[in-house]
Order: sequence, then structure tokens, then C-alpha cells
Amino acid sequence: MCGIVTAISTQNVVPVLLEGLRKLEYRGYDSAGLAVLYNNDLVRLRAAGRVADLAAMADERSLAANIGIAHTRWATHGEPSERNAHPHISDGLAVVHNGIIENYEEIRERLTAKGFKFTSETDTETIAHLVKDKLNEGLDLFEAVRLAANELEGAYAIGVVCENDSTRAIVARKGSPLLLGVGEEGMYAASDTSALLQVTRKVIYLEDGDVAELKLDGYRICLSDGTPVERGITVSSLSADAIELGQYRHYMQKEIFEQPQALANTLEMIAGGNVVSPQVFGAQAGEVLGATRRVLIIACGTSFHAGLVARYWLESIAGIPCSVEIASEYRYRTSVPDPDTLVVVISQSGETADTLAALKHAKSLGMNKTLAICNVPESAIVRETALRFITRAGPEIGVASTKAFTTQLAALALLTLSMAKVNGRLTEEDESRYLTAMRHLPVAVAKVLELEPEIEQWAQRFASKQHALFLGRGRHWPIAMEGALKLKEISYIHAESYAAGELKHGPLALVDRDMPVIAVAPADELIEKLKSNLQEVRARGGELYVFADAGSEIPESDGVHILHMPEHYGMLSPVLHVIPLQLLSYHAALVKGTDVDKPRNLAKSVTVE
Ligand code: F6R
Repeated sequence: MCGIVTAISTQNVVPVLLEGLRKLEYRGYDSAGLAVLYNNDLVRLRAAGRVADLAAMADERSLAANIGIAHTRWATHGEPSERNAHPHISDGLAVVHNGIIENYEEIRERLTAKGFKFTSETDTETIAHLVKDKLNEGLDLFEAVRLAANELEGAYAIGVVCENDSTRAIVARKGSPLLLGVGEEGMYAASDTSALLQVTRKVIYLEDGDVAELKLDGYRICLSDGTPVERGITVSSLSADAIELGQYRHYMQKEIFEQPQALANTLEMIAGGNVVSPQVFGAQAGEVLGATRRVLIIACGTSFHAGLVARYWLESIAGIPCSVEIASEYRYRTSVPDPDTLVVVISQSGETADTLAALKHAKSLGMNKTLAICNVPESAIVRETALRFITRAGPEIGVASTKAFTTQLAALALLTLSMAKVNGRLTEEDESRYLTAMRHLPVAVAKVLELEPEIEQWAQRFASKQHALFLGRGRHWPIAMEGALKLKEISYIHAESYAAGELKHGPLALVDRDMPVIAVAPADELIEKLKSNLQEVRARGGELYVFADAGSEIPESDGVHILHMPEHYGMLSPVLHVIPLQLLSYHAALVKGTDVDKPRNLAKSVTVE
């Protein structure tokens, strides 16, 4: 949800700002802008399009400067347009912002009464005028930003530069991610590390309420009350390759094919042994899991689907009651708190505003047994929980989540086995059998990826469809949900998912020759039930696309297309069955010519409510 970059350097910062924006474009991409100080004068460029459009404008003007701020936007207040694009300016002072200011209307009214003129519909312009108002009162720029930030309600990561003050840039954060980069030639700040690898690996994660001044010869950080504070420097181990496309056409394709490695990395700790240890979730995990009576999983989107799969595992294998809630619902619902419940939050980014707020809500209700399953170690969500498991998927840049999902499932499978163990429900034999299957997962996933050519052919037929129906049963129903979400989000084909047994209770009315029905059909304990549901579809002329295991025994016939997956993979079968659905949506989107990695209206890291 928007990305910001700030730079002050002995070198020209324009290429640094633009390259930073390119790396942050996954966070929002409906408009982009930058402001630099050139001979103490403010120069602003904005484009109602992609970073490439902004770069072309900067090129045309041969823009060069030693200090500047930049922004790539995902619109919240006001349509995507040049007028609403950041930076926003108040009489020589420029601001970029990621987040949402909840009290902006009240501040806007106050500042309008003082004579400030607003030219956009954004909440961010309020920040620019508010800081300017403080400057007009005679405050120094750092203090003006700090005191203005204290008046803001909501979430922000901001970068500020000001005309006639070209020796420094000021940044501040609360709720939205922001880190500093300590370089050889200057100081930088950005929404994530990937934007800064071009200039430095030395980063400083700012905490909520921090305000920092960046100068050529160093930096200083203060708390919101003005007290100076030290924050440690971390040397990022993020590899530049991890964020480059390499041989692939799209990040989504790259990330789908990285799944064997991502799973192997995530499961590295079980590589050598035949026993599962709850300690992989933290030193206190054995004790916490032993005292847990229920599990409440909270997440959004794809991460929510991972939670739904885990419910089947936790109840059937660990014998623990489990409920799964969409974060944006849970946080506003009056629920019955239970201190013996383990609250598990799942998030790729660790910054999703709804998930973070739902976690805080659960804690405020006295539920302090908390576990984060997350792909970003230093994220806000990880910092809020007592226990944590970091998936090692590597950076996920494509907006549609793929490798994060399968590694979340791997983590949740480990959680299930750990809970089964502490509850005395795991025999040594079962433990060893499950762990062997988990260790073999990367190879099994690689085998499924070999089916790509057949899936590509299916995708050709899908691309002309307006609608699609996804069916699954049991622990594969969430996989059908995930397949439908992937298809709609990147190919814009309307897709619905149903538990196959629900079909006859309504959705069967939709089935006709134009409605392809995709069935997730593993050879599990529900396969015969699923086959009956598929008969119901065929009897109404619906065309079936079935992802069947070697043992599912569904014959191919007119209107029934079968894709043969490998042998049934038991408990972990959902991990394999989601792969062809990811590939199907990817190839359908390719045929349709959509922007696979940056689907319309969406962005990664949903840091707004
Ligand atoms: C779908 C997708 C989203 C995210 C959701 C939660 O492909 O990526 O549905 O899963 O926004 O994001 P995280 O996992 O970062 O909390």
C-alpha cells in the first residue's frame, strides 16, 4: 500500500529514488511522483501511471539533485490522478506518505480556516500543510515534523524535504513500515529493504513514533516526545537475486517455481531428524502449546485460506478445537474471549492492517498466547506475538500470493504435529511418517510443476470464459477457495468456490455449458462423495476440469477433462493441489494479457484498513 523512498547523497539521487520506486512498485502502482531540491528550489514530477512514466519524465528533463523524496501510490483518498499523486506540497515543503490519516478532515478544516489551500482529495496534503503551519510558527523542520506527527491519528510513514533547507530530509513512522539505510555516499529511507539494496545493506528499522533526520554526514532518531534514541544497525542478508526476475517473465511465475526451494528452506529444521520439536515456534512454545485448549486463527485473503486448511489438520490430528476468522470481521465482532486459546495470526507481509489490529484486539481481550506465522522477520505482526515461526519463502513480489501460501501450510503442518505431540496424540511411528512426507514435499511439488504444459492448454480454454466455479471437499475446499481467488485476482474472470456438497443447495442453478467447473479431486476419504457431486454437474451439461490424483479413478469422457496429479499425498495433499490452480490462473491471465504481477486495483501489503 504505497511505497516511499527518501535519499540524501553526495551523488545524484534521482536514479536511486526511481530504482527504489521500481522495487516498491508491488506496494501500489496507480501513480508515482518525486520531489527534489535543486539549488535549494523544490522540483516536483508526478505521473498518473507507473514508475516507468515518471522515469521517462525525469529523463526528459535530465533531472539531477542530491536530496529528494519519492512515492508510488495505491489510492485510498481520491482517484488515481496526477493531482492526487504524491509528493504533496505546501509552499516549498514536500511530503510523501504511506498509510491513512484518520483525523485528516478535522485537521483540514482547521488549516483551511487558517488560509491553507487544498488542491487534492488526499489525506496526505493535510500533513504537508500541518508541517508548514508549524514551520510558520518558527519551529525548526525536525521539530515541525515531530509535532505534526504527534497530531496525526492513523498510520503513517512519511518523508519530508523543504526548500532552503537542503542539508536534511526528515522521516517519521507509526503503523506503516519504514527503515533507514546507512550508505557510503549518503543516508536513505524506504518502505522496505529491497528499495535500498542498490546503495546499502546497512539498515535501521524504525519503531512506531520514531522521527529521524537524515544528513550527508549521519542521522539522528528521536522518540515522539523528542527524546533521542539509538536503534541498532542490521546488515541485511537479502540477496539481490531474490528480488530480480532472472529467467522468468513475471514474479508470479518465478514465485510459483520457487516453491520447492521455499518449502525446503522453511522446513530446514526438520531436515535431519525424525522428531518434531515445539521449540521451532519459540523457546516457550512447549509450555504454551501444552496449556492451549483451543486455537483461533486470524488472517486475510490467501493467508486466511491457509488457516482454513489448518483447521482440518488441527482438529483431526491434534484433536484441538479450532476456529478461523477473517481479521477484518474478528476485530469488530463482539466475541467471547478465552485465555486458554492460542491466537495464531498468519500473514505473508506481517504488515496487514486488519490482521495486526485483530491481533491487538485479541490481546486486549486477555488472549496473550499468541503465535505469528509470517514471512517477514522484522514486521509489525511478528513484533506483537509471544511465539513466532518465520516462513522462509524469500521476498514475494507478485501481488498474487503463491509461495507464501505453501510455506504457511508447511508451518501449520508443523504446528499441528507439535500440538498433537504435546497432547499425546502422536505415536512415534506417525511422527516419523509425517516428517518423512514433509521432507519429501519439495520433490513432490517439483513433480506437480512438471504438469505446466497441460495446464497451459486448459488455460487457453478458460481465458474466454466470464465465470468459473471451483469445487472441493474437506481440507481441499480451502484449496478450491484459493484457486477461485487466484483466478479472479489476476485474470479478472469471476470465480466462485463451494464445498462440493453445497452445490445442490443453490449454486447448481448457475451450471450450464458456459460455466466451467473446476474440481479439486484427490483420492482421499471423500472422493466417492465428490464424484457424486461431479455427476450432478455433468447431468446439467456443465463442463468439468478435474485435478485428480493417480488413484482418484475418474474416467475422462465428453465434457470431463482430467489432469492426473501424482499419488495421493495424504494430510499434505492440499500443498500439492494448490500448485496447478496457481498455474491455471497464471496462464489464463497470460492469455488474457492482464498485468499479472500488478493486477488492477490491488496492491501487496495491505497496510490500510
Ligand atoms: C491474494 C493475496 C491476498 C493476501 C492478503 C493478506 O493473492 O495475496 O489475499 O493474502 O492481503 O496478506 P498478508 O498475508 O500479507 O497478511
